[in-house]
Amino acid sequence: MNPSRFSHLLAPGRLGPLQLRNRVVLPAMDQNACSDEGLITDEVVAHYEERARGGVGLLILETSAVAYPVGATSRHQPSLSSDDCIPGLRRLGEAVHAHGAKMIVQMCHHGKVARVDTMEGREQLVASVPLPEFQAELENVLPDELAGLLAANGSQIPTARAATSEDLDWVVGAFAAAARRVQAAGLDGVEVHGGHGYLIASFLSPYSNRRGDEYGGSSDNRARLLTRVVRAVREACGPEFAVVVRLDGQEHGGGITPELAAAHGALAAGAGADAVHVSSYSQNPLTYAFTEGPLPWRPGQYIELARQVKAAVEVPVIAVGRISPALAEELLSGGDVCDFVAMGRQLLADPEIPNRLAAGRPELIRTCINCFVCVAENFWDGRPVCAVNARLGHYDRPVPAATGGRRVVVVGGGPAGLEAARVAAGRGHEVLVMESRRLGGTALLSSLTTPANGELVRYLVAATRDAGVEVRLGRPADADDVAAEHPDVVVVATGARRVRPAVPGGDLPHVLSGDDLRDLLIGSGTPPGVGRGMGWLLGAARAARLLEDPARLRRLSRLWMPIGRRVAVVGGGLVGVELAEFLAERRRTVTVLEDSAYLGAEMALPRRMRALHELAGAGVRTERNAAVTRIDRTTVTFESGGDEQSVPADTVIYAAGVRPDPTLADALRAAGLETVAAGDCATVGYIQGAIRSGADAAARI
Ligand SMILES: Cc1cc2nc3c(=O)[nH]c(=O)nc-3n(C[C@H](O)[C@H](O)[C@H](O)COP(=O)(O)O)c2cc1C
Repeated sequence: MNPSRFSHLLAPGRLGPLQLRNRVVLPAMDQNACSDEGLITDEVVAHYEERARGGVGLLILETSAVAYPVGATSRHQPSLSSDDCIPGLRRLGEAVHAHGAKMIVQMCHHGKVARVDTMEGREQLVASVPLPEFQAELENVLPDELAGLLAANGSQIPTARAATSEDLDWVVGAFAAAARRVQAAGLDGVEVHGGHGYLIASFLSPYSNRRGDEYGGSSDNRARLLTRVVRAVREACGPEFAVVVRLDGQEHGGGITPELAAAHGALAAGAGADAVHVSSYSQNPLTYAFTEGPLPWRPGQYIELARQVKAAVEVPVIAVGRISPALAEELLSGGDVCDFVAMGRQLLADPEIPNRLAAGRPELIRTCINCFVCVAENFWDGRPVCAVNARLGHYDRPVPAATGGRRVVVVGGGPAGLEAARVAAGRGHEVLVMESRRLGGTALLSSLTTPANGELVRYLVAATRDAGVEVRLGRPADADDVAAEHPDVVVVATGARRVRPAVPGGDLPHVLSGDDLRDLLIGSGTPPGVGRGMGWLLGAARAARLLEDPARLRRLSRLWMPIGRRVAVVGGGLVGVELAEFLAERRRTVTVLEDSAYLGAEMALPRRMRALHELAGAGVRTERNAAVTRIDRTTVTFESGGDEQSVPADTVIYAAGVRPDPTLADALRAAGLETVAAGDCATVGYIQGAIRSGADAAARI
């Protein structure tokens, strides 16, 4: 791999007074790891230092409260309101600078999202009252999530008041004073948060600003608070201090349009901003719309918004929104979208992206799987964690030392086993992975419905190979086989077992369990329910290795699948929901039957809301509180609210009944071998649980 493939992304660039080593920007992302007084802790330093070490050009510190605790969204976000913040910021800046990166601080007054104001009995400051109402999709919020959302407000109902012009003078002064503290701490600049519905954005947006004074009416008036803040910061800190402005390129659900955003960008630049960073926002964050903005779900979702702003300003533009290195390179070489690229969740998943590109090793990048687990934590004021990067949010745990010297046998080549193998080999142990089928386990299978999971498999396979792990495929390993390898330690990561529905008809041939589906796609036999002709076709497809590439399989499955026209999916958890969408896209009439009140419960909240929105759009019928009582050749009967109902089904897929399977781990322990169980064979935890427990297992060796 030639690093020149990323020559635009890795090229140095100028942003106002700053010379940056490349075009990769870490956008602001709350870590909520500050002290109770909003001061920088060791964990905060560790988080940013890792990304500076990983080669990022410009880091933007998470949203920090200019008047903390007033206008703050969390007690654990950085405070900029007194000189007490300076020593911590200085320590952070020095740590980042030591690795050749620059760092600026995102400054904010959170307006209607200032949860600390609500918690502490203050009114929130906004452009106009009453605030526009929005309808949350509460039926998709789990009870503990709802409790978390309420607790983040101190279980108080927010109240808001329209800012007076004296309030706004105070706000402008607070931004300028905060910027001076950032400068005194030796950091390189600030990013004024003018997006995401916070105070400045609530003025910019015609949706939320209905004022008749000099801060409302025309777009120039609505932008007055923004331009005053930018001018005040510039005046306070001078020309050698970078001032970036983050704006919404569009508000979903009404408000800022791309045309208005372009005008806002020009006004910000005219007021002295060195660059404009184009994000997006939705008026109703407690629905699927959160994944329209600010957290996009499609790759490159905000590109056109950035392009529109770029056409209106002379200063550099930073684009954001699921931009992969390859897409970044394309955008930067085109020159009409952006000058810098922010990679948010990507850099949470892998802090080393720029270094890996520079080393010509993009295959070693651990790609974000778009699961929204990280940001969901922010909903209830938690610390983000990452499904594929076990370290995120756990900086208080020491990085396990490279002790080396032990022979480790890992049984099972799914995410838990491969992560354990990767980490153990990285610590200097000699590692063998024994896998009966193909590497990737359930993640490989799920990549059919959720392609991003295939990226994780791709990474894990490359990373274990790079770490020198030996892989042995093709034969199930029992306790004797493992013992014959003379391991010092065994990590068992053989995955869950999947039971069939314990109802009359649950054993009919057209009822497929998760294990049947697995056999169908990555196994060797022909599962029940697949006729001889189809069985032959499957055999031929396997022989031609047609089923080995999930992307190809996804395409092929649009033409043909050994699955009837009418499908009942029993179990509406993560797997059932993803499967239902996949089948509906392939012209199946799908009904999901879930016995609890919640669909997609194992998904992170924003992803669940998106997935259920997509499901409804694809015409999938969903039944909650539906207990299946009987399966016949053409129907599934279920009970719901005391009524018995039936849905037609030529194929029934059982997407529930996943259970831990400790069989092998128990046998190895009984044989006296030191054994650790990881992944679903110990506790069903999907990808996040698998990676976490795999990493933990290897850390203990
Ligand atoms: C955990 C998390 C926290 C975030 N916190 C902030 C924030 O403090 N300020 C902000 O402007 N955007 C915040 N964002 C949005 C990101 O800056 C970025 O715009 C968004 O994640 C889209 O980029 P991506 O697709 O590369 O992740 C946050 C995103 C995540 C995932």
